[in-house]
Amino acid sequence: MLSEMTSESAFEKLLDYWKPWLWMSPSVGHDWLPFFLKMTVFLSEKSNQPYDWHSRKWRNLYFRNPVGIAGGLDKTGQSIDSWWNLGAGFLEIGTVTPHAQKPNSGKIMDRFKETEALWNRMGFPSPGYKSVLFELEKNFENRQTPIFLNIGKNRTTANENAHEDYTLLMRQMHQVCDVFVVNISSPNTTGLRQLFSKKYFEPLMDKLGGESRRLQKPLLLKLSPDEPRDQLESIIHRSYNQGVDGYVITNTTIQRPTPSPYPEDGGLSGKPLAAQSLQTLKDVVQILGLNRNNKLIVNAGGISSGTDLRDRLYWGADLCQIYSSLVFRGPYTFKKIAHEYQSTI
Ligand SMILES: Cc1cc2nc3c(=O)[nH]c(=O)nc-3n(C[C@H](O)[C@H](O)[C@H](O)COP(=O)(O)O)c2cc1C
Repeated sequence: MLSEMTSESAFEKLLDYWKPWLWMSPSVGHDWLPFFLKMTVFLSEKSNQPYDWHSRKWRNLYFRNPVGIAGGLDKTGQSIDSWWNLGAGFLEIGTVTPHAQKPNSGKIMDRFKETEALWNRMGFPSPGYKSVLFELEKNFENRQTPIFLNIGKNRTTANENAHEDYTLLMRQMHQVCDVFVVNISSPNTTGLRQLFSKKYFEPLMDKLGGESRRLQKPLLLKLSPDEPRDQLESIIHRSYNQGVDGYVITNTTIQRPTPSPYPEDGGLSGKPLAAQSLQTLKDVVQILGLNRNNKLIVNAGGISSGTDLRDRLYWGADLCQIYSSLVFRGPYTFKKIAHEYQSTI
């Protein structure tokens, strides 16, 4: 089984060596992603991809393996089939917003090869929920892995009314996803992270928790890596009491190393986020302690290898997600991680 998984076709070797997307500007590479993925799948040997390894169940969901794609990589659900073919164990589609909106103006993303970092200030570009609903409807019934849906508010919606955006998305889309992920941790929508403050958080989570129970769809909360420990404790306790079913740890960081080669605004992902993401994971696991109560813990942030996966599972993650490493290691990252993880057993 393992030797089958490790064998590489000539095409895979060529793609790994060449990495043509790294020769393009990050935004162009991002726009061409669905096409690249389709071509990659078409030219790859399907029997060569690992699908079922370290499988697990959570509630009624079966995860073929513990590595999925992180929010933002497939915002519209255009490439669902390609991710499955490349060996993803689950997908998180979105962030989707109720109404269509453009990205923030100006430069919205960049990559830093030397440090394997991605930077973005996209601000939830979305075609609006109807077109994502259409994509998900095509795939949901015969899905090969669980599908999470990451939901956000439009930037023109005031924080006072944020619950209306989130509940609208939950009501309209609950039939085409397995789990909702509430995104109030993106640093790229002005004022969004204020939804974690006492004033907004409890009423918001109260409404979303109620909706999740009514629709019988689990609700995860995506956390920021930038919350101080006391604030994190209060977020976990309050969301726990309001029935959140788990956490995605973490979104991008607004912190920067010194000296920093990265822009000051926006969020940073990839290797520079790894330590912070792992620390937040440890903190959340410790805060939950013996009351973890089957809460699902998904970890994202700088995960790139089988060793990273092993580490994050060891520290309490149930599942992991990748974004940046797919850019730097290529579309066979699922396969590489599967092999690396299993070869250390
Ligand atoms: C270009 C880009 C766009 C992103 N868009 C979203 C998004 O729409 N919603 C979201 O919840 N997270 C988004 N993220 C954050 C990722 O889901 C993930 O939390 C973060 O990148 C850490 O994982 P990584 O280190 O493997 O990249 C985005 C990240 C990047 C690099």
